[in-house]
Amino acid sequence: MQRVFSGIQPTGIPHLGNYLGAIRNWVTLQKDHDCLFCLVDMHSLTMLWSPEALREQTLASTACLLASGIDPTRLYNQSAVSAHARLGWIFNCVSRLGWLNRMTQFKDKAGKNRENHSAGLYVYPNLMAADILAFHATRVPVGDDQRQHLELANDIAQKFNHDMGVEFFPQIEPLIPPHAARVMSLRDGSKKMSKSDPSAQSRIILNDTADDIAQKIRKARTDAEPLPSEEAGLEGRPEARNLLTIYAAMSDRTLADVLGQFAGQGFGTFKQALADLLVETLAPVADETRRLMGDRAHLMQVLRQGAERARAVSEPIVSEAEKLVGFLR
Ligand code: TYM
Repeated sequence: MQRVFSGIQPTGIPHLGNYLGAIRNWVTLQKDHDCLFCLVDMHSLTMLWSPEALREQTLASTACLLASGIDPTRLYNQSAVSAHARLGWIFNCVSRLGWLNRMTQFKDKAGKNRENHSAGLYVYPNLMAADILAFHATRVPVGDDQRQHLELANDIAQKFNHDMGVEFFPQIEPLIPPHAARVMSLRDGSKKMSKSDPSAQSRIILNDTADDIAQKIRKARTDAEPLPSEEAGLEGRPEARNLLTIYAAMSDRTLADVLGQFAGQGFGTFKQALADLLVETLAPVADETRRLMGDRAHLMQVLRQGAERARAVSEPIVSEAEKLVGFLR
């Protein structure tokens, strides 16, 4: 059975992009793969953070992932398993500055004020490679925005093997969904849906109320044309394409099929149908999240047990890597 690893930042309740790009696929994969899913709380320190908020958001993320159908025995938080930090350091010394300089996500996040960002933000992709390789995972289900990081992880694995003269770390295969791998902002079809967007109107959060969802979809940016009958008619219409892609992904239908249904109609009818579909799918997740949030002891217990299992899998692998680089034990 192939091992699957993936991670998500514990920013509280995930958004629809996280759900369609990652979480939903994790739930499917765990049926026939050996899976580990990680709340990457060490990542959370790369930008300014509040300890209290980090604790609360980690618990909220745990509740929402469980409510979305993630198997509780496979979920844990990164900082509780020392393999991540230990292999992360080794990879800091394997990875090259030239490789990190090419990472587009650092450039996007650091923006113009590069000098003032943490060193952690810069080397974070090395830690992400360690997250995966500490488990010898070979398949990594992610959204499209993580593609470059996974290429870097493969470069690091290859260089480690080459430098140490071993075949120790496997190559990783990204599992990027064919549809909705990059869900866009509801306010601007050229930006991806993200928690860092200042406008809450730009994203659907998995515990939004039915009224929130209806209002956000009603206000979502569109254009004045009716919906086309074919995909070619979405050329130059990123907002229309985004909403239709969300509809198709949420209903497990093809874009062509959805276009066939709504061709020639205005956005009014379509938006109502999309809001109804989102509410129908997400309301049970929101209800279960709320219920689970009331039982903090249970959430803590899930994370502790998940970390124990993650430790058992990663410890021999990272110990061997430490031996290979020459650390005495
Ligand atoms: P993060 O927390 O930004 O996102 C978690 C997952 O959600 C996907 N995603 C999206 N998919 C489609 N449309 C969007 N708008 C969208 N926004 C986010 C992401 O692609 C991701 O799969 N660095 C990672 C976390 C990480 C990780 C790992 C992932 C740490 N270590 C090891 C895989 C393997 C991150 O910040 O994801």
